[in-house]
Amino acid sequence: MQFKLVSLVIAASALSISAQTTAWNSLGCVAEGTFGTRYAFAGSATTSGNMTVQNCLNSCPLNYAGLENGSQCFCSDTITNNGASGTPISPNFCNVPCSGNDTEKCGGILSLTVYTRHTVPANGWITAGCYVDSNESRALRNATVESFSVNTDYCLNYCNTRGWKIAATQFGNQCFCGSTLLSGDNNAGRHANDADCSQACAANSAQTCGAARRMNLYVKA
Ligand SMILES: *[C@@H]1O[C@H](CO)[C@@H](O)[C@H](O)[C@H]1NC(C)=O
Ligand SMILES: *[C@@H]1O[C@H](CO)[C@@H](O)[C@H](O)[C@H]1NC(C)=O
Ligand SMILES: *[C@@H]1O[C@H](CO)[C@@H](O)[C@H](O)[C@H]1NC(C)=O
Ligand SMILES: *[C@@H]1O[C@H](CO)[C@@H](O)[C@H](O)[C@H]1NC(C)=O
Ligand SMILES: *[C@@H]1O[C@H](CO)[C@@H](O)[C@H](O)[C@H]1NC(C)=O
Repeated sequence: MQFKLVSLVIAASALSISAQTTAWNSLGCVAEGTFGTRYAFAGSATTSGNMTVQNCLNSCPLNYAGLENGSQCFCSDTITNNGASGTPISPNFCNVPCSGNDTEKCGGILSLTVYTRHTVPANGWITAGCYVDSNESRALRNATVESFSVNTDYCLNYCNTRGWKIAATQFGNQCFCGSTLLSGDNNAGRHANDADCSQACAANSAQTCGAARRMNLYVKA
């Protein structure tokens, strides 16, 4: 597996997402719920004494895969809002060695290492998912444009030509660029439910460009 690490800096502590140049991104460690809708994944897990991250990803044809407690693999088209806590938790909770390879980690007790699929666009930008922004403390601060011309390609090109490695579309017609993703008020900088990013782009109604206080985030591979 090839990983390209992109630091997403937040004010008090550091978050990072692993942007993979193959088919999956790590979304980090997520708290498992213990009942009903608090379960991060609908459905049951496959359990194996030979579990590895790659075995789980390879077996999952859907959008999300999650590893729990060393040997369990979940697979689903949706996850609930980052499991029980609503935000990624410390990677220290996803510290159980994989049953099939004890040099790598497969989640933890009541914690899941979650991966999501992405497509690798020709221009080298990778989708990182839907993230929270705050009007008062922006998560990306280096460059911005608001225009009826905004769609995904417009924003990626705008940020790309200015040399920024992170780009985001928001509220249909806004584009933000930056070198680091900052945390802020109201969970700014945190991963959100992907379904939250539901607003059509001003210049291409077939694409989504975030929503109010939600951004479709992209990182340069
Ligand atoms: C465990 O999985 C690996 C691939 O990840 C495979 O090479 C190996 O044969 C498997 N071992 C068993 C006992 O199934
Ligand atoms: C986690 O895995 C260990 C070892 O397989 C097992 O003994 C324990 O019951 C599991 N815990 C949970 C909460 O699934
Ligand atoms: C076990 O995991 C390590 C770290 O990801 C990897 O380098 C190694 O190739 C894996 N071994 C097997 C047998 O899959
Ligand atoms: C980009 O924005 C970040 C966060 O505000 C800041 O730390 C960094 O200095 C800015 N980079 C440049 C070149 O202005
Ligand atoms: C944030 O900005 C969006 C888009 O401009 C606007 O619709 C929304 O009302 C603002 N929210 C707050 C809390 O100011």
